[in-house]
Amino acid sequence: MQCRSTWILICLLCLSLVAASGQNPTKAPDAEGYPWWQHAVFYEIYPRSFADSNNDGIGDLKGIASKLDYLKDLGVDAIWISPCFPSPQVDFGYDVSDYENIDPMYGTLADFDALAADAKKHGIRIILDFVVNHTSDQHKWFLDSKSSRTSEHRDWYIWRDGKGPGKPPNNWISDFGGSAWKFDSTTNQYYYHYFAAEQPDLNWRNPAVKDAMFDVTRWWYKRGVSGFRLDAVDTLYEDPNLHDNPVLPGKNDFGDPNEENKYNDKLPEVHETLRELRKVADEYNAVLIGETWTSDIAELNQYYGHGNNELQLPMDFLFTTVNKLSPADFRKQIAAVDSASGWPTFVISNHDIVRSYDRYGDGPHNDQIAKLMAGLYLTLRGTPIMYYGEEIGMKTTPPTRKEDVKDPIGRTGWPKEKGRDGERTPMQWDASENGGFSTVAPWLPVPPSAKTHNVADESKDPDSVLSFYKNVLKVRRANRALLDGSYVALNENDQNVLSYMRAYKDQAVLVALNMSGAPQTLNFDLSKSGFTSAKSLVATGKSGANGTVVTLEPYGVFIGQLAK
Ligand code: NOJ
Ligand code: CA
Repeated sequence: MQCRSTWILICLLCLSLVAASGQNPTKAPDAEGYPWWQHAVFYEIYPRSFADSNNDGIGDLKGIASKLDYLKDLGVDAIWISPCFPSPQVDFGYDVSDYENIDPMYGTLADFDALAADAKKHGIRIILDFVVNHTSDQHKWFLDSKSSRTSEHRDWYIWRDGKGPGKPPNNWISDFGGSAWKFDSTTNQYYYHYFAAEQPDLNWRNPAVKDAMFDVTRWWYKRGVSGFRLDAVDTLYEDPNLHDNPVLPGKNDFGDPNEENKYNDKLPEVHETLRELRKVADEYNAVLIGETWTSDIAELNQYYGHGNNELQLPMDFLFTTVNKLSPADFRKQIAAVDSASGWPTFVISNHDIVRSYDRYGDGPHNDQIAKLMAGLYLTLRGTPIMYYGEEIGMKTTPPTRKEDVKDPIGRTGWPKEKGRDGERTPMQWDASENGGFSTVAPWLPVPPSAKTHNVADESKDPDSVLSFYKNVLKVRRANRALLDGSYVALNENDQNVLSYMRAYKDQAVLVALNMSGAPQTLNFDLSKSGFTSAKSLVATGKSGANGTVVTLEPYGVFIGQLAK
């Protein structure tokens, strides 16, 4: 008997050790049954721009490792590293030429392993970017594919005859400008590329492609990766009959006709593939985050899948497209996402869009508004995905001259489309010449705002945007209502203040966000739930509560624990 219970104990110990190694084949929910990714705060790192350890002007993996203490102190649980794999860098890593290695400019596989080990010691998980829709035109699969019509990998990409001399197979337009088809004289056929011509689309209808790509995920899971952000997953499949897309009125910023991407975007086949990819992820307790540009909740629900068998975290980009500080608009969006069939994901900035600091800021109150937005999306029911520099109030700084543009879409689309360099500038670590990012001039210039908005100075200032982020994240981490509580909208007719309660069993937190430039006072009637006072957990400036009467300074935030 004694022997048997010792044996059971040993088994349990082994199981928990496997779980801790990140390779647990079973799901590992916390004590209350929540999977790890529901409580985690994710943080996107654009590796070229985060920290440069060898002073060549480009960020790298050792640079990221050197900032793990900072990330831990900030309150981050998982970092999503944008592509760091070998790549000709036509689209700065989103053109992958080898999925199972690290680009020398970012380091080596040994550096990755060291980063993963160190991150684990810090309690930080690593999520990699999986570029599923296309490879680089320099990937060995594509080089073989284009070499002859009968090559082993010919059908791994989408090759078709043109409609006649100089005429592509159909009217589909590339997201990066021009036709989505490129003629290749080696075999006298066109290949399809939704993005740049150097990013040929994989043919996911070919089972060999699926197998090879699924194996890539296994390879990284076994190396300790906790999940993937799936790039451009909407465009995985296209109509095999190549129907022309309907043409809409007007032209886009590249001068191409507007089109409805009816036949090459969000085809139903994508869901079957996601279900299979999810099965692999589940074997490793991993999370799949989707770059999913859904236009409504019905589309979002499709990405969760029936019974949540597709993506755990399809990104909801609603907050990145509505740029107005309007309580009514937010209420509507939050309620919609809250009613979706899966766990919400909130994003306000990333490497493809103008930073939230500028989108919502009015100029004079940008810092207050940055705190307001943090007070909002870090207290909603869902998983937030932060973007590096957001926590210090980094602003978008686009190039002012065409010759300085690095982003391919900025070079093609200038001046209407200036590209995405402005939101990819180096992280501002201090006020020195290169922002503490590097000792040499970085690949993109450090914006002048590094003098006023940087980690070193803001760490010392209790009123800084950075201190506010840290405070909110600290409160969130320890507060069950903020982690798991339901979302209850309050004062729904208020045009200036967005307020809500997060309620979990007998606990609740009140959040009040003043979206106006005037002070506001609110008298909350919470008698139905029995709460009579709110004790401040985090608040900006003079914002505070007396009983359940909350006063907010202009653009003020109040987050308070409710008591009976
Ligand atoms: C989405 C990525 O976020 C973007 O940066 C990239 O250019 C395209 N996908 C193509 O991979
Ligand atoms: Ca470097």
